[in-house]
Amino acid sequence: MKIAILGYGTVGRGVDEIVGKHTADVEVARILELPDRLADERMTSDFRDIVEDPEIALVVECMGGLEPAHTYIIEALAAGKSVVTSNKAVVAEYFEEFASQARCSGASLLIEASVGGGIPWIASIEKVRRIDEVSSFSGIMNGTTNYIVDAMAKNDADFDEVLAAAQALGYAERDSSADIDGIDVKNKTIISACVAFDVSCTKEFPVSGIRTLTNGDLDVLRGMGRGVKLLGRGVRSDGRYAVSVEPVAVPLSSLEANVPSNFNLISLEGSTIGPLKFYGQGAGMLPTGNAMVQDIIDFANGRRPTYDFSARLAYAPELLTSDYLFRTTASLPGGEGVASGYTILRSLTSEKARELLDDALEKDPTSFMAALPQED
Ligand SMILES: NC(=O)c1ccc[n+]([C@@H]2O[C@H](COP(=O)([O-])OP(=O)(O)OC[C@H]3O[C@@H](n4cnc5c(N)ncnc54)[C@H](OP(=O)(O)O)[C@@H]3O)[C@@H](O)[C@H]2O)c1
Repeated sequence: MKIAILGYGTVGRGVDEIVGKHTADVEVARILELPDRLADERMTSDFRDIVEDPEIALVVECMGGLEPAHTYIIEALAAGKSVVTSNKAVVAEYFEEFASQARCSGASLLIEASVGGGIPWIASIEKVRRIDEVSSFSGIMNGTTNYIVDAMAKNDADFDEVLAAAQALGYAERDSSADIDGIDVKNKTIISACVAFDVSCTKEFPVSGIRTLTNGDLDVLRGMGRGVKLLGRGVRSDGRYAVSVEPVAVPLSSLEANVPSNFNLISLEGSTIGPLKFYGQGAGMLPTGNAMVQDIIDFANGRRPTYDFSARLAYAPELLTSDYLFRTTASLPGGEGVASGYTILRSLTSEKARELLDDALEKDPTSFMAALPQED
């Protein structure tokens, strides 16, 4: 089978390397590259050379960003070529349009690498759903922020120092806001909710990151027997669902609290399987390339995933309700003081907590908040 790669960066090179070394029946026939970097005869800077080539059955999109990725994916699908993509931003934004175009033209859309990098998360949700309804998912879906929190906790280092080290190691982008403000996890949460719940997931839900996390916050949480992790979460119950992205104070004894460095851990709860947890590398050239090549092999073996957005679930923020710890010098509506500058507010939805954090940030831009779910 002949394939084309769009974007020859970290992930594109990983796909090329793995296909070259490990798959006898797949050939990278074309690579879309910028005009000043056409380094081998497979490369072209004209997408027409790919989309109009009848021999190319599948296109691997790893350029990133919304445009031209969105246009190229639609054009490839419309031309009957299946698409494998690692681009969570474009899938979160245009998932329904892509799935509908794929259905119309009889092509497939495969998105394993868009959530959890090398972890077989999307395929596992699909497998669980052959028998079970997924009632919830939750996960550490961003390696950069996990690296930052883990290094802050282990080395007693402050946020800026650790972020600079993460950038030097290549774990964090120079512009790290999509990671530390939770936008990357938001996109992965939207995709996970669509696949797990068959829902056309709202894009308007509470998203908080870890930009204002301090060592003092980690000390106070440690005193409460907890660590903190940036989690993307989704819950489904009785025809309703809710999703959120926020720092969550997890028990120090939990698997989540002990996820080191830039690893990911994503969990789901199925009706007969119970809890399942998937741990591994959520990013990187070869782990992400591996997930994309798994999609290519699945496609070559006849797997044709379909996505359904027809579940009429009402968005119900009250499904994600817990106590919250706040650190702010701004005034809060009541609550119990737990340490100097720290207050616990009981039984808030994550939407209400985010509203209170927004108010607090206006007066005190260093304010921090973490959900304190009840321990199991
Ligand atoms: N890196 C990871 O570990 C990882 C993990 C999971 C998912 N992803 C996702 O995978 C995608 C790719 O990530 P990456 O880390 O491989 O990014 P990257 O290293 O920046 O690679 C993207 C490549 O595509 C090129 N490109 C952009 N627009 C193009 C165009 N119109 N024509 C030809 N080439 C074009 C870029 O060129 P320039 O450099 O000139 O812009 C760059 O070489 C992103 O959506 C990312 O979110 C990445």
